[in-house]
Amino acid sequence: MSDFPASRAATPPPPATTRAALLYPLRLTINGEPHTLEVESTVSLLDLLRDRLQLTGTKKGCDHGQCGACTVLVEGRRINSCLTLAVMQEGAEITTVEGLANGDELHPLQQAFIAKDALQCGYCTPGQLCSAQGLINEGQACTRDQVRELMSGNICRCGAYPQITDAVMAVLDESQGPAATPEASPAHWTPGTVPA
Ligand code: FES
Ligand code: FES
Repeated sequence: MSDFPASRAATPPPPATTRAALLYPLRLTINGEPHTLEVESTVSLLDLLRDRLQLTGTKKGCDHGQCGACTVLVEGRRINSCLTLAVMQEGAEITTVEGLANGDELHPLQQAFIAKDALQCGYCTPGQLCSAQGLINEGQACTRDQVRELMSGNICRCGAYPQITDAVMAVLDESQGPAATPEASPAHWTPGTVPA
């Protein structure tokens, strides 16, 4: 005969909703540092960066792929980190705004944003910076119009667009030299398209 009282022995198992979520192993290199993690399959890369790794430079604006505040670089390519699950990035190299500077030396884009006064509240700025670096990596923009078009996924509620464009153009001009002209733009760039 059992030593437990009848009421305790009859306690049903907890409902499925209270059971621990399954964790998946995940290896990432973030700003040059290797990370070994365990995450639920539903955690976005944005939430992993901000809530688990305290890399809060990357901002959450809409959480729906509409504003670009959460832009980071994955293997040098810009993505909205709110739209990708962390587990989908297994093994990837990720750069956030915290990884742009070289120690105490600001990244050229960061310097240009300061020099051109390309921010007001600054909330969109980390996403603008990462997106601008992605834009430069893509090598598809030479002119102001192309920069405006290809940065159009990054919303600035303060309306600092002219200064942001000035800052990106300053770095592009520096990297491309005075020979860059509209005609030098790669032929495959099509007005009205923005890389996802
Ligand atoms: S928070 Fe990701 S696009 Fe707005
Ligand atoms: S500087 Fe405020 S949202 Fe862009």
